[in-house]
Amino acid sequence: MKNRSHWSGPLSFFLVAVGSAVGLGNIWKFPYIAGENGGGAFVLVYLLCIALVGLPIFVAELYIGREGQSNIVHTFNVLEKKKSRWRFVGHLGILSAFVILSFYSVVGGWIIDYFLKALNFSFEGRSGSDISGMLNLLFSSPGKQIIYHMVFMFITFMIVVGGISKGIERWSKILMPAFLILLLGLFIYSVTTPGFKDSLVFLFYPDFKMLTPSGVLEAVGHSFFTLSLGMGAIMTYGSYLKKSEDLIKTAFYIGLADTIIALMAGIVIFSIVFTYGLEPSSGPKLMFETLPTLFSKDAAGNVLAMSFFGLVLFAALTSSVSLLQVVVSYFEENSNLSKTAITLLSAFSIFCLGILSALSTNLLSDFYVVEGLTFFDFFDKLSSHYLLPLGGLLMAVFFGWKLDTEEIKKIFLDHPKTKLYFFVLIWSNRILAPLAILIMTINSIFS
Ligand code: PHE
Repeated sequence: MKNRSHWSGPLSFFLVAVGSAVGLGNIWKFPYIAGENGGGAFVLVYLLCIALVGLPIFVAELYIGREGQSNIVHTFNVLEKKKSRWRFVGHLGILSAFVILSFYSVVGGWIIDYFLKALNFSFEGRSGSDISGMLNLLFSSPGKQIIYHMVFMFITFMIVVGGISKGIERWSKILMPAFLILLLGLFIYSVTTPGFKDSLVFLFYPDFKMLTPSGVLEAVGHSFFTLSLGMGAIMTYGSYLKKSEDLIKTAFYIGLADTIIALMAGIVIFSIVFTYGLEPSSGPKLMFETLPTLFSKDAAGNVLAMSFFGLVLFAALTSSVSLLQVVVSYFEENSNLSKTAITLLSAFSIFCLGILSALSTNLLSDFYVVEGLTFFDFFDKLSSHYLLPLGGLLMAVFFGWKLDTEEIKKIFLDHPKTKLYFFVLIWSNRILAPLAILIMTINSIFS
């Protein structure tokens, strides 16, 4: 086994983990699924899922990764001190990474297109219908979508080849805080818009009549997606951690940062929706129709559009990198090929799979994999609704029931924490999180 490098310090680890968590899931997906599921009640369930299911599993996944110091398959062998049957959880994670990155990169491609549009000042002075026309034009072009998807995969490939500390850390330190500042600026602006109050009511006033069983499953699935949980990204990053890190504190702050960013993005987007009388439930198009409306007012708005789409692109890349890293670090430790060759092969196969999603809004728009789901929808639902919750459930059970509790206790109580933390952590992973996932999934399947 090759020697593993480590993060240069706690702050670097924190930034890359936040980089993985914060991405299109927060800015593009959270607002649109909140919109489709009626707002407040969905957001409440989502927040509960983050706190009660996501965070305990986050700690479990970090712990499994850090103790194993290996790729997400072998880590289970290390922890069980034998060829573990649980290593299929790792294989499942690699499958999830493939599926997620394939459509994630297509959306990343849309962001590249919008970034280029902003560089060309294409939003300035445009009307609402011009703006929705722009997106439809992109959607109807297979060539454009495939090319942008390829560019996105290529940049992801380049960063991963650059190595973990050099490639990811350096840029995260500058661009993640820059993104936060820009989002804060947009948030402050949205407070001054007439739609701000309605946006708060929509997002935070729960109307339980709007909540469906599949909406509840969407909320639990999204809590995994947004935290990069249940497929080994966090495990892989955890495996580069030194053993002195306080995992509970780390998980808490990453979850908090991720949630605050999603909520801020939601408030900004719905303030625009209600100010301009747009449709809250317009689906994956929501972000691309709302923000450009705001940016279209004048040249200054267009400069804002450049920074916004540039930084969202960066946030998406720090997430896509963590997805590719999972695949690469597995094959790196299991084959004799060079890292560059492995990364290239993985990126290329994911790119090929992603073509199906890129064609889902044009040539294959009438092709349904199952019940009205195009390839794009199918890959999205397959990963968020099933693969990630299943991966998370298995990790929780492994952590809670298979590992030696005394050993975990020693490590966690090493930090100046109360017994209560430890108790909550173990029992959430043993009972609460697995049960919640099972109930929500079964409830949605049989409803
Ligand atoms: N968490 C990322 C986002 O919100 C997506 C992601 C999912 C990244 C799973 C890694 C693993 O955009």
